[in-house]
Amino acid sequence: MRTVYAIALLSHLGIGALGASLPTAWGAADSISFTLATSPQLVGHRIYVVNVSVAVSTHDVVLDTGSNDLWVDTTLGAPLVNHSSSSPGPVHTETGISALLEYGVENAYTYALGEVQFASVEVPSAGGNETLVVHNQAFLNVPGTTNITQYGNEGVLGLGPPRGWSAVRDVLDETEWDADPFLATMFEQHPKMQRFFTLSFGPRDTEGAINAGAVTFGAVRPELSAILDAPKLPLMTGQFWDVPSRGFVVDGTVVNLSGSGTDELRFILDSGVYATFAPPEYLRAIYSPVPGSFLLEDGTWSVPCDTRMNVSVLLGETAYGIHPVDMTEVYGLEEEDGTWKPLCKGLFQSNLDTEIPFLIGLNVLRNLHVLHHYGGVAGNPEPYVQIVQATDMAQASAEFAAMNTARIDTFLRVGEVTAETSSVERPMESVGSTVVRTPEIRRTMRGWYVDALLLSSACFAVLYAISRWFRLRARCASCV
Ligand SMILES: *[C@@H]1O[C@H](CO)[C@@H](O)[C@H](O)[C@H]1NC(C)=O
Ligand SMILES: *[C@@H]1O[C@H](CO)[C@@H](O)[C@H](O)[C@H]1NC(C)=O
Ligand SMILES: *[C@@H]1O[C@H](CO)[C@@H](O)[C@H](O)[C@H]1NC(C)=O
Ligand SMILES: *[C@@H]1O[C@H](CO)[C@@H](O)[C@H](O)[C@H]1NC(C)=O
Ligand SMILES: *[C@@H]1O[C@H](CO)[C@@H](O)[C@H](O)[C@H]1NC(C)=O
Ligand SMILES: *[C@@H]1O[C@H](CO)[C@@H](O)[C@H](O)[C@H]1NC(C)=O
Repeated sequence: MRTVYAIALLSHLGIGALGASLPTAWGAADSISFTLATSPQLVGHRIYVVNVSVAVSTHDVVLDTGSNDLWVDTTLGAPLVNHSSSSPGPVHTETGISALLEYGVENAYTYALGEVQFASVEVPSAGGNETLVVHNQAFLNVPGTTNITQYGNEGVLGLGPPRGWSAVRDVLDETEWDADPFLATMFEQHPKMQRFFTLSFGPRDTEGAINAGAVTFGAVRPELSAILDAPKLPLMTGQFWDVPSRGFVVDGTVVNLSGSGTDELRFILDSGVYATFAPPEYLRAIYSPVPGSFLLEDGTWSVPCDTRMNVSVLLGETAYGIHPVDMTEVYGLEEEDGTWKPLCKGLFQSNLDTEIPFLIGLNVLRNLHVLHHYGGVAGNPEPYVQIVQATDMAQASAEFAAMNTARIDTFLRVGEVTAETSSVERPMESVGSTVVRTPEIRRTMRGWYVDALLLSSACFAVLYAISRWFRLRARCASCV
């Protein structure tokens, strides 16, 4: 299934063949495809997953450039396999050391308790027959306690930079275990591989959604070779893939609200969140000029559904255009004069966090190809990022109306189905009868929204919440 997909994706992109695989080493030019998580409940709020096997148990895990740990819900997928004499290394080792993950937003927190274990991790190649294998990789075995894995993913593969915070590294500190995150172990075990990975996205469907893309380790896909000539953006702290920015460009005007006018903003690139999080004054500058827009209770902006926004994000010195379908989303329905009217709002979410004010998520990243350089073995060069524009903005502008109409139609259809069957499909407020009234539909939609927000923040919050709170408990958790 995956291989077939990869061929389809590549032919869409107009590429003849994948790079040749090396016979005895990982064929670095091979792309690994990732796809949208499968849950039908998430509508627009989905994230991308990649199929990895951990001790031979296969899991769809979130590709998360915003965190550093690998964890899997081992109640999903096949059971883990213990040491096998036919394999080149220990397949699965337990440490007896526990770690507690906390994630969530605002008042909705949830916890995941797991044990740090070691296993061989394999990432299948989409095109060739090579599999990228990493032995003795630390991961968190989190059996069945988390709320985010009910959405079609079974864990998280953290792909943060070398200085990123890691829960596993924290609990294994002062033990003899090797706590390196996946990327560090991989580059160490494949020393000939160039120390970077790329993320790129496939074509849009008729609703403007991108259902799949590709990650490459140690090489760029031939058609993306221009990325190697893109400016190298240094990381601002190196705790995330955080790059300097001067703000956003809205209808040709730079929105840059930093008090001094000279400060560079710190934009964190995070493929584990579906939206972009920014301070409320930036949301106001982006959405309030739209005629008919207004601020909603949750801090997002309501905008008329037919609004074709023209916004770019500045990363380094370059402006990268954002497809207008990625600036807004359909989130609800309202009955007006006997017909259902869609409600739309900005896909930039309000963020009051002053330590991480800008979290640049998938609605922006989908418009880019990004190369994440992990830095040299001895820290020279320092890690950096290279970016090229993926979205053709002229085409985006031309295709927006049709895509927007298509996604609204789908939302109306799914909305009706959900309203009629929600008591069966979801443990949510039951809508009950076949007589569907506006308030109930709206409540249904809000239910989705809250769940999806929880999901989107999960990977971010694993770092964000734990980095403050978990440190206090890490030692304690390790005595569990
Ligand atoms: C990959 O598959 C092809 C054909 O199926 C085969 O000829 C080749 O030897 C395989 N390569 C490896 C490294 O297994
Ligand atoms: C991942 O692999 C498993 C087992 O091979 C398969 O059932 C599942 O559909 C795959 N998922 C994706 C997204 O390819
Ligand atoms: C692996 O070994 C542990 C004990 O070391 C055992 O509890 C577990 O059931 C084993 N798993 C499998 C799949 O054999
Ligand atoms: C997580 O799931 C449990 C059990 O399904 C539920 O009781 C709890 O409320 C959920 N937590 C959140 C934050 O949704
Ligand atoms: C979008 O804004 C840019 C300036 O940033 C301008 O050059 C371009 O023509 C605008 N596109 C549309 C469709 O308005
Ligand atoms: C934005 O920030 C840059 C420095 O990063 C500064 O030169 C510029 O004057 C600021 N304001 C605007 C509106 O561009």
